[in-house]
Amino acid sequence: MIRFENATKVYGKSDRAALDHLNLEIGDGCLYGFLGPNGAGKTTAIRLLTGALRATEGKILVNGIDTAERPVEAKRLIGFVPDSQEMYDKLTGWEYLNFMADIFGVSAEDRKRRGEKYLEIFEMTQAAGDRISSYSRGMKQKIASIGALIHNPPIWVLDEPMVGLDPRAAFLLKEEMKRRAAEGATVFFSTHVLEVAEKMCDKVGIINQGKLIMEGSPEDLIARRGDASLEELFLELTDKDQESPKEEDERK
Ligand SMILES: Nc1ncnc2c1ncn2[C@@H]1O[C@H](COP(=O)(O)OP(=O)(O)O)[C@@H](O)[C@H]1O
Ligand SMILES: [Mg+2]
Repeated sequence: MIRFENATKVYGKSDRAALDHLNLEIGDGCLYGFLGPNGAGKTTAIRLLTGALRATEGKILVNGIDTAERPVEAKRLIGFVPDSQEMYDKLTGWEYLNFMADIFGVSAEDRKRRGEKYLEIFEMTQAAGDRISSYSRGMKQKIASIGALIHNPPIWVLDEPMVGLDPRAAFLLKEEMKRRAAEGATVFFSTHVLEVAEKMCDKVGIINQGKLIMEGSPEDLIARRGDASLEELFLELTDKDQESPKEEDERK
């Protein structure tokens, strides 16, 4: 369970809140899409949730635990996949997974079992012995996703997870997100692509300029596409050019 209560963030001396009194409740087993154009405040909300940022006002609870009051306990419940994968290039895939498993105190047996399972699911078994510096962007995204699942967290948080993934990798990731939610986890991810949110989520929240402007099922969203009040925003969100397609085998 994730709950945002009036979560607000004002950066520095800005006169506008990047996140403005966000209220959300996301239950166990829910696959929740947090949809909004670039600059809407999605990453800010996620950074508050994961404890990387302090709220200016309001609070965030995960499974009833206040993320500001009990940050260590809260972090243990969350598996987080950030929006950029500029990390630990010198490690191999498996070394990275062991590093993540060490942080969360995962037993040797569990890390091996989960690591092998997810490497298989994400078609990364062959590459797991190679250095991350040799990985494509999509492969980095996949190893980061596995790393975020190595402690089997009840809450999985992903920031723009589909950006830069080739269709096959995006498919595998979406399947895993759905599977985790079906198994009872809370899966919360951000996207600026309307289609992604409509296709796979149980529930969607739309944020614009720091404010939640609507929430509902994908069916509700589709039904409201023609609303004058939302039409312009939907047009922006369906602009395919926003997403930069990158090749799976694009290497550094
Ligand atoms: N570290 C920061 N310092 C100041 N302003 C920021 C910072 N990070 C984000 N912002 C601003 O906050 C707003 C929301 O940004 P962000 O949460 O990154 O949006 P999104 O992830 O939806 O694209 C934007 O106006 C952005 O410029
Ligand atoms: Mg963002």
